[in-house]
Amino acid sequence: MKIAISGKGGVGKTCIAGGLAAWFAKAGSPALAIDADPSPNLGLSLGLTFEEASSIVPIAEETELIRLKTGTPYSGVFRLSFTVDDILRSHAHLTPSGAYLMVMGTVRAMGSGCTCPAHSVIKALMRHLVVERNDVVILDMEAGIEHLGRGTAEHVDLLLIVADANRKSLEVARNIHILAKDSRIGRVALIGNRVADDRQRKIITEFAEKNRMELIAMIPFDSAVADSGITGEGIDERSSVAIREIGRLAANLGGRSGGKGPCRDIPAVKRYETGSGEL
Ligand SMILES: Nc1ncnc2c1ncn2[C@@H]1O[C@H](COP(=O)(O)OP(=O)(O)OP(=O)(O)O)[C@@H](O)[C@H]1O
Ligand SMILES: [Mg+2]
Repeated sequence: MKIAISGKGGVGKTCIAGGLAAWFAKAGSPALAIDADPSPNLGLSLGLTFEEASSIVPIAEETELIRLKTGTPYSGVFRLSFTVDDILRSHAHLTPSGAYLMVMGTVRAMGSGCTCPAHSVIKALMRHLVVERNDVVILDMEAGIEHLGRGTAEHVDLLLIVADANRKSLEVARNIHILAKDSRIGRVALIGNRVADDRQRKIITEFAEKNRMELIAMIPFDSAVADSGITGEGIDERSSVAIREIGRLAANLGGRSGGKGPCRDIPAVKRYETGSGEL
């Protein structure tokens, strides 16, 4: 299953992406969480410390890797055809949540036909992960879907657009929905997040109805999640209403418990001490 998450800045995309990936991992489907935000911080939501998360070099900045993949003996000329499956093995970080993390780095303008070497590698890698593999993949993106690129978007099973009751975030959600309708993404749905009261619930519900969007989940405001954003400390999952709702969503999306995870053939070469052991 391939799930992409988009929405206005600050609406809770990363919290939800991390919560979903962690849930799938715990349910026996070690998910691959892809941070496709130019200011990556998904690692924190997956249980890495600030130091661990900051030590990850985004793939777009791995100059030697990019040179190896795309370089030719001729200056200014680079290869457009190369393999990327090895990047998954070398750059998937096992996190304490049990989910694997890949940090893409700046992938802006990917859909715009940019052909510089770093973009070519990211584009090929995204395509490989979303189109050619059979893992649970959760993509944490910026607002918009352009970095999915043509030929990749249609293989995304579900685009989750996150919004809170704030008018600007709903406007961004509406625009993303319009773009998504032309992209051939399998299913597009809205998540209401940080919902503090019945009034906000009503605003989001009416927005979804008016714009004919499927409202797939309504995640309440959770002071534990807000606090963890301030302190950087983990959340006690058992008492978090937001994490519980994210788990309910994951279960409805077809999560299962037990069994072998589809990511089991990914050897994580960079393991964190707090990671959850063998694949
Ligand atoms: N359900 C919730 N209840 C309370 N606070 C929340 C909730 N969801 C997210 N937050 C808080 O909102 C802030 C933004 O969340 P997050 O970083 O996930 O948003 P984002 O959309 O990924 O932001 P960005 O666009 O900057 O990447 C964080 O401080 C987070 O703790
Ligand atoms: Mg984010």
